[in-house]
Amino acid sequence: MERKKFLRTLGAGAAFAITFPCLGSCSKDSEVEGEIVTPPTNIDFTIDLTSSEAAKLANNGGFILKNLVVVVKNLEGEFVAATQICSHEQYDQVRFVNQDGGIFYCDVHGSRFSQTGTPLNEIPNSTSKALKIYNTSLEGSILRVFE
Ligand code: FES
Repeated sequence: MERKKFLRTLGAGAAFAITFPCLGSCSKDSEVEGEIVTPPTNIDFTIDLTSSEAAKLANNGGFILKNLVVVVKNLEGEFVAATQICSHEQYDQVRFVNQDGGIFYCDVHGSRFSQTGTPLNEIPNSTSKALKIYNTSLEGSILRVFE
């Protein structure tokens, strides 16, 4: 069967779908892992550092994700916390990485932030907006993360 005849038998909608399969859905962002998320408000929670959920916080450079917050024991052994939601395009992909003394990093477009939330970006497509940082306090083995 000729291509033209074949397309005609499918109807206009199917022919359009076959001819233009990528319209509107093949942008770079559709390949990105993670979700665009609205940042939560009123962050205030605790973590028992003796619990299994906190196991990765036993070592310097370790971090866990809880309530859309990246809770970190930095390379100096201090606890810091930042939103998991990138200030660039609100993907929930911010993590702590062992680079330049320890930074927050979003792999969606490569935005980098200091531990105080200051953008460290030199590449296009990253952000100049600060990353939200939360307070931490430690009482015994209970770590509190709050605004
Ligand atoms: S959404 Fe994080 S770098 Fe773009």
